[in-house]
Amino acid sequence: MYLTDTQKKMLDGEQGEPVQVAMEMLCALGEIYGAENLIPIKSAHCAGLSLKSHGIAGMHWVEDMARKGAKVTVPTTMNVIGVDRSRDLGLPADWVAHQLRIEKGYEAMGCLGTSSCVPYYYSFLPKFGEHIAWAESSAVVFTNSVLGARDNREGGPSAWAAGITGYTPNYGLHLDKNRKGDILFKITTELNGIADYGAVGNYVGKLTGEKIPVFENLGHPTTEELVYLGAALASAGGVALFHAIGLTPEAPDKETVFGNKIYEVVEIGKKELEQGYANLTTAKSRDVDFVALGCPHCNLKQVTEIAKMLEGKKVKDGVTMWIHTNMAVKAMAQNLGIQKIIEDAGAVLTQDLCVVLSNPEVLGFKTLATHSPKMAFYAPGGNGLDVWYGSEKECIEAAVTGRWNG
Ligand code: F3S
Repeated sequence: MYLTDTQKKMLDGEQGEPVQVAMEMLCALGEIYGAENLIPIKSAHCAGLSLKSHGIAGMHWVEDMARKGAKVTVPTTMNVIGVDRSRDLGLPADWVAHQLRIEKGYEAMGCLGTSSCVPYYYSFLPKFGEHIAWAESSAVVFTNSVLGARDNREGGPSAWAAGITGYTPNYGLHLDKNRKGDILFKITTELNGIADYGAVGNYVGKLTGEKIPVFENLGHPTTEELVYLGAALASAGGVALFHAIGLTPEAPDKETVFGNKIYEVVEIGKKELEQGYANLTTAKSRDVDFVALGCPHCNLKQVTEIAKMLEGKKVKDGVTMWIHTNMAVKAMAQNLGIQKIIEDAGAVLTQDLCVVLSNPEVLGFKTLATHSPKMAFYAPGGNGLDVWYGSEKECIEAAVTGRWNG
């Protein structure tokens, strides 16, 4: 891979050990994927920051890099972590302490401790065609597909290395020729709400794997529905980019999105939508003791809508309800009186936290109800929880009654 003189010096250690380590990572990645060079990036987003991902050895590595003077050189945000920094949710003390040390280590390197998987809502909004190095699969698929930024599905270490050096290897979705569609999915049924879009995303993601799906007749999705569609595609498959004809910026028509490729056509009707719901539901018992919304994290609009649905209701004794968001949205919800409505109903508005990357199972929960296709996908294996998957309305009813009636 071609390196400029400056990049060679970085690799030779002239700018210190952390830069050298970061450059070694990027060069190894570039060699594996056949990149011709390294390109400058506008921003980075580090993920895999939970104790579950890092372990104790990873925590020591982060602290060591920070001690040796590692500093990011482009705006770099941080993904969710495994604790809520604003309150005690009852998670084990050593878990919390180790998690906070990881967070502090990254912050010492200049990363912004935003602790959320939706940084595009409130920090750096990548522009069309802009090269970035973000990890967090749900954010990658959103920035590529809906915003038209250029991003590969970075892992935590490569996003960190890109943040430190300001470069990423030029391969994959950074190259226009690799951004054409592979399979056309014709939607023949009406989609309503986040859970429908998530169920379709799950069904399609399982079929596409790492290929690029193209949707025709996706309806008129809201931004939040596109976020959850992408999160489902990225979790059930390895999707990092989708197109929707007439909706997303690189898909004005089929000719543009496929070029001269021969492509497969798959119809997605009521049966396939129902199969998506079935794929995401593992519970047998209708008794629910845990309800979690906001994966990816809720924005202010979602938090407000959930608060309206909860107003005047009470979460049943024995049921825990968490609504996940980031620090900025929580502060706004607090100031606007929205958090009070949620907490008067007995639910909790968390910040920073990701259920999947935390360990709610130690609190004894057994059966989860969620509107999140990503949480529903990972929680059975990752947290040992049985899952009911459905709309916000169904989840709130489960919180209030302790039963799944969807
Ligand atoms: Fe975000 Fe964690 Fe869900 S990273 S998308 S809250 S699994």
